[in-house]
Amino acid sequence: MNPALPARRARTAAALHLDNALLLIGAGEPVPLPERSDQHYPFRAHAEYYYLTELECPGGVLAFDPLQGDRDGWISFVPEVTEGERVWEGRTQPPGEPIAALEAWLGARRDRPIAALGAPLRGVRSSPEHTLRARVLFQHARRSKDEAELALIRRTAVATAAGFARLKAELRPGITERALQVELEAEFFRHDATRPGYETIIGTGPNSAVLHFPPSQRAARDGEFVLVDAGAEINRYMTDVTRTYVVGRPTPFQRDLHQVVLAAEQRALSRCIAGTEWRELHLATAVEMVGGLVALGLMRGQPESLVEQEAHTLFFPHGLGHLVGLGVRDGSGMEPGRAKSTRPGLSTLRLDLPLRPGYVVTVEPGLYFIPALLNDPARRARYRDCVDWARAEQCLHLGGVRIEDNVLVTDGAPENLTAAIPKTLE
Ligand code: GLY
Ligand code: MN
Repeated sequence: MNPALPARRARTAAALHLDNALLLIGAGEPVPLPERSDQHYPFRAHAEYYYLTELECPGGVLAFDPLQGDRDGWISFVPEVTEGERVWEGRTQPPGEPIAALEAWLGARRDRPIAALGAPLRGVRSSPEHTLRARVLFQHARRSKDEAELALIRRTAVATAAGFARLKAELRPGITERALQVELEAEFFRHDATRPGYETIIGTGPNSAVLHFPPSQRAARDGEFVLVDAGAEINRYMTDVTRTYVVGRPTPFQRDLHQVVLAAEQRALSRCIAGTEWRELHLATAVEMVGGLVALGLMRGQPESLVEQEAHTLFFPHGLGHLVGLGVRDGSGMEPGRAKSTRPGLSTLRLDLPLRPGYVVTVEPGLYFIPALLNDPARRARYRDCVDWARAEQCLHLGGVRIEDNVLVTDGAPENLTAAIPKTLE
């Protein structure tokens, strides 16, 4: 067992305040492909299970009895690996007690409430109240990364940097989004990646305005933006990085737009210090980028007032970032006890909490010319005086710019874990 796991389990046990409730955490079951090919979607154990076991064990259940102590109360139940699984998939038996023994373990603890986390467990009568409370507290407890997690995240940052470095050399007119994806991901694998952390996003020209564009056979043209959002994964941990390039020489406007996003990103990165409220940082970044758009003649008015009217969402329609680590949105969400903001401009935020040491957070401002938003008659009417619409229309073919790094919040200055990936246009 990874030596970090006993301490991680003990910390989790202390954080959940279970009293006499039992905790069960399900790994999940493999999902078959629909065409009866005897194959399954790649199995990924539920993050809550993986965090405490580091096992990709289909059907596994981790159990905890708090009355036996934060360190000693844990027991891992695993199904027996079948001969077929050994023959066809090369699986080996993971450590743990036979899954059949779970029934007796529960039987010996009858009448205790059960908090059931991870993937749903068939045939277990859990207490919704205990489950909800444990889930919120567990998510919160996992937010600060421990040293073993940070070591993995740092390794993924190295692999991700290698991929982006390779990409830069490939950028030329005629290169397809798919060809860029192949080069990028191959380099991830050459640097220890076990997979890409999520579906790689690559958009050339107008496709760069689609927030999660899946790479196609479209070829980049001279003078176009190319937006790449990707990250390597190693043993379930990952980074999530975006860079926006121009093929050939950027126009002055492309340079200016890129600079507005870059300046906002760098300022936001420097403000990722313990205690910073994420929602305030998001709004401050929006004001800063709107200021840039006003200076470029695209928007009209006072930046603060434009953001109060939510006009920034025309060009910056997503949140400033999210937590990342064991999954691309690892542990994101709200501070326990906090309700979701009803303000429309904040409803897209993936995070609403104060930053704390150990959090790894993405900072990813972007400005885009998105036809679905900018051609919407209701938005045009509502923001008639806030935008130079003729100017915006001329930009609709341009796409967009996003720049994203992953930053570790510390007791002192923030550490940009992905700083090695160049982000200037030149
Ligand atoms: N980079 C993909 C995401 O943030 O969801
Ligand atoms: Mn992201």
